[in-house]
Amino acid sequence: MSELTAQNWEQRYQDQKTGWDLGRSAPPFEALVRQENAPKRGSMAVLGSGYGHDAILFAKNGFDVIGFDYAPSAIAKSNELAKGLNLQFIEKDIFELTTEFSGTFDYVLEHTCFCAIDPNLRAKYVEVVSTILKPKGELIALFWAHLRQGGPPFGSNVQDLKQLFEKHFEIISFEKATNSIPVRQNEEYLARMKKKSELI
Ligand SMILES: C[S@@+](CC[C@H](N)C(=O)[O-])C[C@H]1O[C@@H](n2cnc3c(N)ncnc32)[C@H](O)[C@@H]1O
Repeated sequence: MSELTAQNWEQRYQDQKTGWDLGRSAPPFEALVRQENAPKRGSMAVLGSGYGHDAILFAKNGFDVIGFDYAPSAIAKSNELAKGLNLQFIEKDIFELTTEFSGTFDYVLEHTCFCAIDPNLRAKYVEVVSTILKPKGELIALFWAHLRQGGPPFGSNVQDLKQLFEKHFEIISFEKATNSIPVRQNEEYLARMKKKSELI
């Protein structure tokens, strides 16, 4: 496994080895914001926001967005691309969001951040998402659930994903994306999950 540190991701950006970057927002998100049951406007955290295309899409659709990424070059380019728009990008490790941003967001957006972290941190990732959401907040995720060895991107399967998130979330929908880019076709799932209310 290559090292998964902020320095290492920053190096990838500096070397322009950004094979994950679509140069646009993910087509399944573009379709989602247009559909009848699109999520209603609200505050949104985008985790591992990269160059910020998805954050920009939701900001343009009226969401109050903060993109978080710990690679400074990704943040710099996002700010450039988002010039004149009303959204923020913050350089921060997503595993350090829980104190400052506890209970803050109506939505968390996930796109190729989950598959980029060490698989041993997945349960912690779910805790982070749940913690920074408001009660009944929603996770909107596009999971790249491929089954190949190694990573990043690290693989996953639908059953394990559901099992992992069900601890804190009620799954509203979990469907194979129909408009993925060619190299991710049949391997991407668009999921919407509501944070379970805490027991009193
Ligand atoms: C595969 S890229 C995906 C970027 C973007 N979501 C996209 O789809 O273009 C993964 C991103 O997550 C960021 N990242 C990985 N682990 C992180 C962490 N613990 N905290 C903050 N950002 C992280 C990396 O810097 C990188 O920008």
